[in-house]
Amino acid sequence: MNAIIDSIGIYVPEKKVDNHYFESILDTSDEWIRTRTGINTRFYAAENEYTSDLCVKAAQNLSDKYNKDLSQVDFIIVATTSGEQVMPSMATRVQTALNIPNAGCIDVYAACAGFVYGIILAKGLIAAGTHKKVLVIGAETLSKITDFTDRTSCILFGDGAGAVLVEASNENYIFEGLTESDGSHGKDLYLSYQNVPVNGEEVIADNKLHQNGRVVFKWAVTTLIKKIEELAGKNHLKLEDIDWFVPHSANIRILESICEGLNIPMDKCLESIRNYGNTSAASIPLAWYNGIESGKVKVDDQLLLIGFGGGLTCAGICLQNKIEKK
Ligand code: ACO
Repeated sequence: MNAIIDSIGIYVPEKKVDNHYFESILDTSDEWIRTRTGINTRFYAAENEYTSDLCVKAAQNLSDKYNKDLSQVDFIIVATTSGEQVMPSMATRVQTALNIPNAGCIDVYAACAGFVYGIILAKGLIAAGTHKKVLVIGAETLSKITDFTDRTSCILFGDGAGAVLVEASNENYIFEGLTESDGSHGKDLYLSYQNVPVNGEEVIADNKLHQNGRVVFKWAVTTLIKKIEELAGKNHLKLEDIDWFVPHSANIRILESICEGLNIPMDKCLESIRNYGNTSAASIPLAWYNGIESGKVKVDDQLLLIGFGGGLTCAGICLQNKIEKK
């Protein structure tokens, strides 16, 4: 069974936070943040607004814009690391809020690679012939799990959500994917609520994000350069056949280093880092959506999506864009 994605929706909370906010709480500057990360602004959820609320709004946006009847969805996958609860899952909350009676529901914990893991799983369910309409959502309220005393990480994160509907189709538009992980780097990017060591090393069990930024940066660049080439090869594509690269928007300098390493012009990269910050599992759909809205990404363009993040994890997939600008 073949699969297609021809609809997308997003939601970003109202509260806009610029870099000057951090100047008021920490020893940092707008200039440092912009030049070291590319981030100008990010958005934070309201106190009573949670990850599942963002998921529901992104799915509603998809349904309204692309006239999709979500009651027929038979599986919901939510990729997140900042759900308001571990159980019930965010996916079951979406199911209830949107009244989708017959959907299987799971959350995927693969950090910033989660959205692409979700698409790979959805494609697998459709290929197996067991499901026909899979709603995949990447959503985060990272502001709720950010350590605002750590200037090396708190400036990075933002909140948002993006949803796509993966559907069975006559023709195939979702091609080969790949997954990768390296648990030996578990301690370099983690969130823990229990005091249990990772790879024998102590963690801070405060339910906040902690990272070794330099190690993650280096791992991301070397891994993505290798994996983008491997993924293009698996799909019998040359890098110049790919119209748009959509790597996880973690830091504009990571994207620049990847483009430099692969000799790809930076303007072939879709990003969401400048306006939204690092939104983890939501960053790829936000960049994709903005690419469509801005008129850059056209129907039939070849896309390569690739996420990386805590775990450390990585997942990529090639697909033909069938989403029209609405
Ligand atoms: N303001 C001012 N100075 C700062 C700040 C800040 N906000 N943060 C760090 N510095 C200082 C450091 O203390 C250091 O000072 P020193 O030289 O006196 O020791 C100096 O700036 C350089 O520090 P570096 O850590 O080398 O800075 P770098 O250029 O690597 O940028 C950053 C740090 C932005 C964290 C970068 O390493 C990064 O983006 N890493 C990857 C992050 C990432 O991809 N995370 C994964 C996704 S997150 C997720 O999964 C939810």
